[in-house]
Amino acid sequence: MELKQAIEKRSSIRTYKQDPVPPEDLKEMVRLASLAPSVANFQPWKFVIVTNKDLMRDMARKVARKIEEIPPNESRAAKNVKSQVEWFATFFQDAPAVIAVAMEPYESVLEKGVVIDHDEINRQRNYPDFQSAGACIQNMLLAAVDMNYGACWLSAPMMAKEALSSMLELEDKYQLVAFVAVGIPERVPPKKQVKDVDEMLKIIE
Ligand SMILES: Cc1cc2nc3c(=O)[nH]c(=O)nc-3n(C[C@H](O)[C@H](O)[C@H](O)COP(=O)(O)O)c2cc1C
Repeated sequence: MELKQAIEKRSSIRTYKQDPVPPEDLKEMVRLASLAPSVANFQPWKFVIVTNKDLMRDMARKVARKIEEIPPNESRAAKNVKSQVEWFATFFQDAPAVIAVAMEPYESVLEKGVVIDHDEINRQRNYPDFQSAGACIQNMLLAAVDMNYGACWLSAPMMAKEALSSMLELEDKYQLVAFVAVGIPERVPPKKQVKDVDEMLKIIE
């Protein structure tokens, strides 16, 4: 598939056929993801492929509990909002596979030579480690499309990231960034409305 075609075809897929995704396909998605650019070629990422249904359900339960614990505000919409978010944060449990993307926080060489701490430099540089992780996740989504799978990037489950990290037995130095749910699409939602390029673009010549 041409790259442009994959970019145009990609959309977030949230319902999947139950056919398993072969481990070699998942591994290839991870390999292609890891070819993304990263700050100072730090390649901060670490991936965990999960196809174990019990673990997926346990993780989804943790996420749901975390969302339930958030006190609702006074609005009439509060209850609906919570249940809607809960679905968008837990549907990964019904996917044949989930790839957890974690990263090692980037330490700039500047930290060794100036009196600004890690968090401040990271903030000033607009979180280059998270930007790197984002590039790698996008590669993964496009790789999935190219291999005729559907995928969805999920950050909502990260509300329970401490619990999820321990369930995934991640080493302490890694921070969970997102989940990517993968499978053969059951339903491809209608294409979203996209802004016209001229609406978002300014050219300075
Ligand atoms: C950083 C990021 C976090 C996202 N988190 C979630 C999520 O937690 N749950 C979900 O269902 N979709 C999530 N999405 C998917 C977006 O909702 C989706 O990309 C957006 O609605 C545009 O639709 P499209 O991907 O089909 O083009 C996320 C996307 C991004 C880039």
